Amino acid sequence: MSDDRSRAPALLLVKLGPGVALEEEAGGVLRARFDREALLLGKFSAAALRHATDLSAGRPLSGVGAYDAPEEKELRGLIQRLALHGLVEYQLSRGADGPGIVAIEPQMRDYRPNFQKLDGTRPYALSRFAYLRRRGEDLVLESPLAGASFRLCDARVASALARLATPQTLAELRSAPDFPGEEFLALLVDCRFTLAIDPAKGLRASEGDDDLALWEFHDLLFHVRSTNGRHANPTGGLYAHAHRIPQPPVVRPAWPGPAIELAKIADAGDSALAAMLRRRRSERVFDDARPITLAEVARFLDGAARIVSRHRVSEGEGEGMEVAARPYPSGGASYELELYLAVDKCAGLARGFYHYDADRHALVAIGATERQLGAIIDDGQFAMGAPTRPQIMITMSARFGRVSWKYSGFAYSLVLKHVGVVMQTLYLMATEMELGACAIGVGDIDLFSRMTGLPFHVEGAVGQMAIGRAAQDSS
Ligand SMILES: Cc1cc2nc3c(=O)[nH]c(=O)nc-3n(C[C@H](O)[C@H](O)[C@H](O)COP(=O)(O)O)c2cc1C
Repeated sequence: MSDDRSRAPALLLVKLGPGVALEEEAGGVLRARFDREALLLGKFSAAALRHATDLSAGRPLSGVGAYDAPEEKELRGLIQRLALHGLVEYQLSRGADGPGIVAIEPQMRDYRPNFQKLDGTRPYALSRFAYLRRRGEDLVLESPLAGASFRLCDARVASALARLATPQTLAELRSAPDFPGEEFLALLVDCRFTLAIDPAKGLRASEGDDDLALWEFHDLLFHVRSTNGRHANPTGGLYAHAHRIPQPPVVRPAWPGPAIELAKIADAGDSALAAMLRRRRSERVFDDARPITLAEVARFLDGAARIVSRHRVSEGEGEGMEVAARPYPSGGASYELELYLAVDKCAGLARGFYHYDADRHALVAIGATERQLGAIIDDGQFAMGAPTRPQIMITMSARFGRVSWKYSGFAYSLVLKHVGVVMQTLYLMATEMELGACAIGVGDIDLFSRMTGLPFHVEGAVGQMAIGRAAQDSS
């Protein structure tokens, strides 16, 4: 970065994201167009509309006019609105029209770039959760801890990042020929790509609390990227490859060898469990006139999730370890899963958000906001494509440390296997009680974190299920 412009101070620009355009309509109304969708942004003054056009090329984030000028206030509101919908990105550049250093793509709704204060006394190093990868024809810096991804605009940024693999003081960084500047480092720190190291603690422990130290790189990345809330990538049944690759056959083509026809040997007979397994199905439509009752909820949780016994392992590898057994199996008797109930309609139980204390067999109210409660229930309705809201949305959370404290390499996959085990247990209990239930494939881990106040890496949402009284004609 040796041309003259490279010595200009770094500037943070805000600009419309790729494929986003602003359209002005009659009466000063502004609309954003993207992906064949339109978002109404509101009515703006002529001065604000003039400045809004700068957003295509990029506009200094702190504005160019007087900070308290009325159009600046309008523009800040406009940018905030666009940011909430993921329609803006930021660019760190050398001067207003100088070369770009990185383009910053927000991944979380409340992400705003902040130049963190740097500490001249501590060395800085890359987070062990940060990684560079090719995406299309770009190189991007990502991390499951980051509120944004950084798209590299200059290959020298990659070598500057590589240098941060070993802790470097500010003075050492400043003297490196490819150092993109303190503003860049301040933004890396803001997104937790880089951290100030406490030499007494060492690299891993400097990163965060003990709960973070227990996470492995691939597990945290898998958790964040396979759920909603902490990234901005498209997810769900998008059929993204359907135009190129035919759907794999519904039933595996038979192996050519000789077959032993089992039906001729024994049939399922009249086993009550086999009959219940066959009866089980997912119910997505609920009877608003006859909500599930508190007594049913109590019986449901008692049968499927209550702690049935507590004991200490008396011998072997886990000697002294306490086990709180529940009606379902759990790898290493970890029992890390907890149930939270977002109640929309339940006779005898107030609408609200509750933790199921599986030891006391009690529901404990948690002070989530009405808006959060509505959002988690609406998300469930949306995931099921249902005409009615689920009466209760159950979120399974994992106290991850219970598993990762013991198991290396596959801790998170073990948690997801446990989610499957609990899902089927809840399905069967619901079937037996003639309640409706439907598993939900993906939840918003950030929403759960905000509802509980629990950091997403300490106890986080890993599975969801809707339950209630099924509408009679829901089949
Ligand atoms: C892990 C898992 C995730 C699921 N996610 C959803 C979902 O997000 N939305 C939905 O409507 N159904 C969901 N289902 C229900 C399936 O669509 C359903 O089990 C499948 O179509 C078979 O139908 P059945 O359950 O009635 O036998 C899920 C099921 C499982 C096991």
